[in-house]
Amino acid sequence: MLSQQNLEKAQALFTRYPEKKAALLPILWIAQGQEGWISQEMMKYVGDLVGVPYAHVLGVVTFYTMFNDKKLGKHHIEVCTNVACLLRGSDKILSAVEKACGTKLGSTSIDGKFTVSEVECMGACGGAPMLAIGQEYHEHLTSEKTEQLLASLK
Ligand code: FES
Repeated sequence: MLSQQNLEKAQALFTRYPEKKAALLPILWIAQGQEGWISQEMMKYVGDLVGVPYAHVLGVVTFYTMFNDKKLGKHHIEVCTNVACLLRGSDKILSAVEKACGTKLGSTSIDGKFTVSEVECMGACGGAPMLAIGQEYHEHLTSEKTEQLLASLK
């Protein structure tokens, strides 16, 4: 469930929309900010809060790659593999990430340090190929730069 502070933020959002269910996306964002991911229990809680069934919330969470329905590692590495990045070598970046993180795409390393995900265009095509670590973008990557970047993470 949401903390009291986050519940108040969610309730404030209701005033911005004609229906409570229209606030589903920003409330899920608040929930993810609180927990780092969105559990089934949280999806049910948020569904009750905005008045939509669990299946609807599950559909939203699993549709948008910005939402995580599993616990993540300490660092979430999101590699863009959409057209611009693909044409500029995102396959090599992804291989470098998997090697440096010691895990495969869609997985978390055994030590819990890295989770590697593939994402659609993140709007930074001019800097392709790119990846994001949390909210931070890293652009114009090469395999070497990627390995150095990941080695620098604590
Ligand atoms: S295609 Fe990778 S950021 Fe747009």
